[in-house]
Amino acid sequence: MEHEKAESTDEKGIISKYYDGIHFPTLVPGDVKDHLNAVKNLKHRECDILLGAFPKSGTHWAFDVLYMLQTGKAEYSFDKIIALDFEPTEKFDALDSPRVLVTHFYPQHIPKYMVDEKCKIVYIYRNPKDTAVSAHLFLQRFDMVGFLGYDGEWEQYLELFTKKHVYYNSWFDHVKSWMEFKKTNPHLPILFMSYEDMKRDLRSCVQVIAEHLGSKQDPEFLDQVADKCQFSPMSKAKTADKTETAMSKDGSNPFYRKGVVGDWKNMFTVAQSEMLDKVVEDKMAGIDLNFKYTL
Ligand code: A3P
Repeated sequence: MEHEKAESTDEKGIISKYYDGIHFPTLVPGDVKDHLNAVKNLKHRECDILLGAFPKSGTHWAFDVLYMLQTGKAEYSFDKIIALDFEPTEKFDALDSPRVLVTHFYPQHIPKYMVDEKCKIVYIYRNPKDTAVSAHLFLQRFDMVGFLGYDGEWEQYLELFTKKHVYYNSWFDHVKSWMEFKKTNPHLPILFMSYEDMKRDLRSCVQVIAEHLGSKQDPEFLDQVADKCQFSPMSKAKTADKTETAMSKDGSNPFYRKGVVGDWKNMFTVAQSEMLDKVVEDKMAGIDLNFKYTL
């Protein structure tokens, strides 16, 4: 696929649309400023839920959990996941209620009514080492993005992830800004949930999310949701559906790979791991967020 002309690129980085200090993927439709404005002014719909996540933190996984809880049916969403970031806003007007809106945007970009009307928000985060590995391998398989100076080598991706920028700038900025948003808006119902906790005990996390949403909490239904959202049945069903496989270079489903905690150990050298530990120590100093690198 031809890459859309980027509005701004780095000499050695990822082709992006640059606006307001943030590198957005080129998949953001049209002019970024206009799109952000349209998202901000999205038409109000009662009971909407927002899922926020830095890319590769388990967005698709969490979406299905939320979708099932919100619809009250333990059935996969298939083609229902569309992100605020990548679609013209008319598409969201056309969605049936209840809507689960997904985004990798920063909190300042979310629809205004969601803040005004205290819509339920869930933010999923994942440890930065697994996130970086997942993103690097995703970008190699995904058929809709472009790079400049990035030729798919892990060393280069890690350098961008830690020292320069990737899409949405950085994992550090993203997680910190969502934490800050939660802290400065204590009246808003925002639930932080980690990929690792979901991996360790999905059933308990489904319960916590259902309580947060105020959705159906019948134990049998929650069991079904947790069973369906385990990696193996979910990736099998989503891959058989073909909606997402069309987006990969090799016919695989780019959104489902291994689905484990700790795969970073197969990619990071000891030196790279120590380097990232230092970056985390520096950039996340004073941040009260517990993320796990192993289970
Ligand atoms: P890996 O590449 O480490 O396997 P996103 O949806 O934000 O793009 O995140 C994709 C990551 O979530 C991928 O990680 C993918 O395999 C993982 N994932 C998707 N569904 C999952 C599930 N049901 N359980 C655990 N991990 C899942």
